Amino acid sequence: MSESSEKSSFTVTPWEVEGEVDYDRLAREFGVRPIEEALLKRMEPLHIYLRRGYFFTHRDLDIILDQYDSGSPFALATGRGPSGDMTIAHYIPFEFTRWLQERYGADVYIQLTTDEKYFVNPELSFENAENYASQNAMDIAAVGFDPDKTFIFSNLEFTKIYRPAARIAKHVTFATARATFGDSVLRNIGWSFFPAVQAAHLLLANFVDGPTPVIVPMGIDQDSFLKIARDVAPKLGFPKPGAVHSRLLSGLQRIGGKMSASRPETAIFLSDDDATVKEKIWNAYTGGQATVKEQREKGGHPDRCVVYSWLYTLFVRSDEEIERIATECRSGERLCGQCKKELIDFLIDFLKRQRKRKKRSPELLKRYMYDGELARRAWDNV
Ligand code: TRP
Repeated sequence: MSESSEKSSFTVTPWEVEGEVDYDRLAREFGVRPIEEALLKRMEPLHIYLRRGYFFTHRDLDIILDQYDSGSPFALATGRGPSGDMTIAHYIPFEFTRWLQERYGADVYIQLTTDEKYFVNPELSFENAENYASQNAMDIAAVGFDPDKTFIFSNLEFTKIYRPAARIAKHVTFATARATFGDSVLRNIGWSFFPAVQAAHLLLANFVDGPTPVIVPMGIDQDSFLKIARDVAPKLGFPKPGAVHSRLLSGLQRIGGKMSASRPETAIFLSDDDATVKEKIWNAYTGGQATVKEQREKGGHPDRCVVYSWLYTLFVRSDEEIERIATECRSGERLCGQCKKELIDFLIDFLKRQRKRKKRSPELLKRYMYDGELARRAWDNV
């Protein structure tokens, strides 16, 4: 979607996020619904990402949970475009999907869109895209999915994905593709076809097991693919897939700014060592005043602070604790250094655990990709 007005101007498509995103307006214009109190209630106890509104809108989540309550299971689908090392922002939807899998006993389908990144990025070689895909798979395998209920595949390796993609592609006109994604899909014919390949992922559970409701946890920028899948699903006799959307995590250099893999100072990578984490967080943008004296007198602005937003969204689980941090900041009692130190400790601890879990990834990946129960079913049935 492209949008501009006097108040603000921003662009959100799967391949471009520009400007200050107004999430309420984006939700209205995408036609997605806020995750309301009643819906949150039925998912309790809530993951921190839901409790703090990082995942904030949905499509048909209520309907799919109703069906679940009356005995029909759903599957989950999420993915990764391997254009580089993964950042902490890329990790979030996977952790959230893992939680949903555990909570609802759902099958999980994870697509690596190596082809997409190759089509879209003129500088990315085929070899590098494939290398990133293998490296990213190692990080995804460390998240802790159930090995018999999870299928991880790259489009260039699980080439059977072409079968469902073909079934879908026939029903998507160029007019629809352009209206949904803009003219960028016309830049090469790989790119034009690609939406069918991601829509195939979103409906893959249906091709493996017959008609199955699917929930797709994803950044809101990916919603256009879901629109295509929802348009086509009824034509193939499948239920429309639903979604839970997240906001986009603020990059370290500006609140509301994006994390950009090409500007490493804006992001924390899962591969960053402790010294790098410290340096990046010490240089992060905060809602604090220019000097200690001013901060003591006027207090800071947690609502305009990247460091606070990361503590709030990702790490500080206790409501009392996060409220205390905000109050201390506003009153000038707390200085930015304190928050930065706390965030550094959380990040270093998180990355250490991720590195440790990753040691088991090669062995787990065999099951996620080939030998696990769901992987076998996928290779056999599609
Ligand atoms: N296109 C996504 C990306 O660039 C990868 C992806 C594939 C995905 N299928 C998905 C993301 C489903 C979310 C949900 O990162």
